[in-house]
Amino acid sequence: MTRLAFIGGGNMARSLIGGLLKTGVAASSISVAEPRAEARQELGREFGVACYADNRQAAGDADVLILAVKPQIMPAVHGELKDVLARQRPLLISIAAGVRIDQLERWFGHALPIVRCMPNTPALIGAGATGLFANRRVSAEQRALAQHILDAVGLTRWLDEESLLDTVTAISGSSPAYFFALVEALEDAAFSQGMSRDTARALAAQACLGAGRMLTESGEDPSVLRKRVTSPNGTTQAALESFAADHFNQVVARAVAAATRRGGEMAAALDDTP
Ligand SMILES: NC(=O)c1ccc[n+]([C@@H]2O[C@H](COP(=O)([O-])OP(=O)(O)OC[C@H]3O[C@@H](n4cnc5c(N)ncnc54)[C@H](OP(=O)(O)O)[C@@H]3O)[C@@H](O)[C@H]2O)c1
Repeated sequence: MTRLAFIGGGNMARSLIGGLLKTGVAASSISVAEPRAEARQELGREFGVACYADNRQAAGDADVLILAVKPQIMPAVHGELKDVLARQRPLLISIAAGVRIDQLERWFGHALPIVRCMPNTPALIGAGATGLFANRRVSAEQRALAQHILDAVGLTRWLDEESLLDTVTAISGSSPAYFFALVEALEDAAFSQGMSRDTARALAAQACLGAGRMLTESGEDPSVLRKRVTSPNGTTQAALESFAADHFNQVVARAVAAATRRGGEMAAALDDTP
């Protein structure tokens, strides 16, 4: 039985553990390190997993170590785990946003198989989208294992270049906020035309959900679906022409570039961390 240890028992760890248990992974194969006693009790009660205050104890005999702490906590964690990792050489899976593999190697040891992932918040409801990148020490079996773990909370895609994880951050990591911003803007527009906020939000949110499901479930190209909704000279065409006049694609491209650039800057800020 593969033994999994989570370092950090927060939101992402909880969703991964919940998802893994649903796929039939035994609770007895999972341990979690979490500093807060109350959170440890909750994790134990809800999932039946073993919880520890001490990172070394949780990582004790793990085949896979999932780093689920905030990026800024990573330097504090690596000092505690270095010896355990050198002894056991588990597969390391980091879900920390913007922490590069070379930084993880520098902190945790150069000979380790490491998978770096970028999930997003819908993972919390099992509808996540995760980009993954493996260093060259990750075996085919470990790759499958990492994928199985992240598949438990949604869709996964492997990337050939680590730098593309900054693009993943911009495209799926941050984009739930873009969609929320769009719904907010639709709500404001409807409110200014006299509709109640409650009704406007419900309609816009449901349209967002429906469009997303049509896109993912039909397998159709988004441009095909868009054209199907757009009758010549109709209301949708009027709105899309207004978007185009305001250079919608360029607005989006600039926003994606800004998020990608920021991802790189945030990782670079950890370069000086010993
Ligand atoms: N949430 C997302 O949608 C999302 C998306 C992509 C990537 N990520 C990444 O996933 C990671 C976890 O995010 P999250 O949202 O799950 O954060 P979170 O809810 O804050 O979980 C982090 C957990 O780590 C615990 N912790 C703090 N210091 C620790 C230490 N020294 N040793 C062990 N555990 C420690 C925290 O305990 P306390 O509460 O006591 O501090 C907390 O329970 C982050 O690196 C984030 O960048 C998250």
